[in-house]
Amino acid sequence: MTAEKTVYIKTYGCQMNVYDSDRMSDSLAPLGYRQTDVIEAADLIILNTCHIREKAAEKVYSELGRIRQVKAERRAAGQATMVAVAGCVAQAEGEEIIRRAPVVDMVFGPQAYHRLPDLIDRAARGERPSDLAEAAAPFKTAAPAKVVATDFPIEDKFDSLPPVSAERTRSRGVTAFLTVQEGCDKFCTFCVVPYTRGAEVSRPAGKVLAEARALVAAGVREVTLLGQNVNAYHGEGEDGDDWTLARLIRALARIPGLDRLRYTTSHPRDMGEDLIGAHRDLPQLMPYLHLPVQSGSDRILAAMNRRHTADDYLRLVERIRAARPDIALSGDFIVGFPGETDADFEATLALVRAVGYAGCFTFKYSPRPGTPASDLDGQVPETVKTERLHRLQALIDDQERRFAAGLVGRTLPVLLEKAGRLPGQLVGRSPYLHPVHVTAPAGLIGSIAPVAITSTGRHSLNGDVVPSDGAEPGASPAVRLSA
Ligand code: SAH
Ligand code: SF4
Ligand code: F3S
Repeated sequence: MTAEKTVYIKTYGCQMNVYDSDRMSDSLAPLGYRQTDVIEAADLIILNTCHIREKAAEKVYSELGRIRQVKAERRAAGQATMVAVAGCVAQAEGEEIIRRAPVVDMVFGPQAYHRLPDLIDRAARGERPSDLAEAAAPFKTAAPAKVVATDFPIEDKFDSLPPVSAERTRSRGVTAFLTVQEGCDKFCTFCVVPYTRGAEVSRPAGKVLAEARALVAAGVREVTLLGQNVNAYHGEGEDGDDWTLARLIRALARIPGLDRLRYTTSHPRDMGEDLIGAHRDLPQLMPYLHLPVQSGSDRILAAMNRRHTADDYLRLVERIRAARPDIALSGDFIVGFPGETDADFEATLALVRAVGYAGCFTFKYSPRPGTPASDLDGQVPETVKTERLHRLQALIDDQERRFAAGLVGRTLPVLLEKAGRLPGQLVGRSPYLHPVHVTAPAGLIGSIAPVAITSTGRHSLNGDVVPSDGAEPGASPAVRLSA
């Protein structure tokens, strides 16, 4: 019998980190670790970190300050605490973390977390963190400025992790993430991901299908396929051919009980005709697409190395809407990229008006050490970035409100996921990814219920479960926004 211990995991950044944190937790279960939400009660604290913007990285250091106190208090009470930094900050700044925060016992990058049990064992035996960082990283952690491995064996990690466990999946609910592709070869000039996650690698289709079947057997009804460039997926198929994401999705859609599929994040250049066709043909594929464009100015797009123009993007959006007219589009935008003029920013506003989004994420450009754009002339003053961010956000907020308002009065199939904050309330997701609040018995959790939408919240919808078979069949009428 292993003695019961507790692990506290704090996750920053993107959905892939959420997936990774769950898998870390799974790999610790055989060692007797149970997950806790109370940091003071944890024998092992893991920060699964994000390096995408300066603020994200800085949060880690302030959290480590708090953890220093927790560790000291536990020590005074005679309890040992092990502290690990995982994820993208660990990959990019491994040795700096150890230097700045001696409280840290272990540092490991996104490609090394399957070795966690071994690392814990070694840390417990008193090995120094710098030795461990060396052992855990697939490539040197201290080189954020350049890619030092172009091909690292992602499947080593996935193969070494325990398979998804039915019991643990059940406790996590009816929706799940599933990583199918990791890393990025695009090298947008602002972005750290190719350095922190390494080169693009796709998992073989058979392994993805097996993991999806295990999730469904444990009660999952909706799976979101993850990849930094998920639509560039080209994994080995069950027939030995290279499969595209569309082929993988078509195979997943044949799994009985897997009612809903989503994927994120896509790059406009990899949005193939077959994937667009899947949105037309497959009712399981939800009408929601996160398709970041970053800017509406061709000059800035070229400086970002996006390798498409604003017009390419608009024509792509037209083709996607021709296949699935009601699709909810979202995106990411960066304001204040080096050299961005008022005219460039106006071009971004014009693109947003032309597309009509259901919602978007907007960011101020944050120079990242080692990325090409951080050295460019023409860095934009903070005040200008703030002003542009507010203007862009106001336009997007308006589009988001209109999209949501267009759903009021309609009946949507809602996957009810969990209890809401109010008594008797449940929260689910619309096909378009809005949280939907209804008053309904807890027994409906896990079902897809027809919900008549009655009103909108800030980023959500409210509605009533329709008792009979009120759900709209098939494709719904076009919700097309333009300002
Ligand atoms: N692989 C995804 C996600 C990348 S990170 C993609 O290609 O879209 C998510 C978003 O963060 C990016 O789309 C971009 O809008 C933003 N981002 C990345 N680097 C940034 C930086 N240095 N400053 C500000 N925003 C950034
Ligand atoms: Fe970063 Fe660009 Fe790759 Fe997205 S496509 S992860 S923004 S380098
Ligand atoms: Fe952040 Fe790494 Fe994801 S930098 S956005 S956690 S890939």
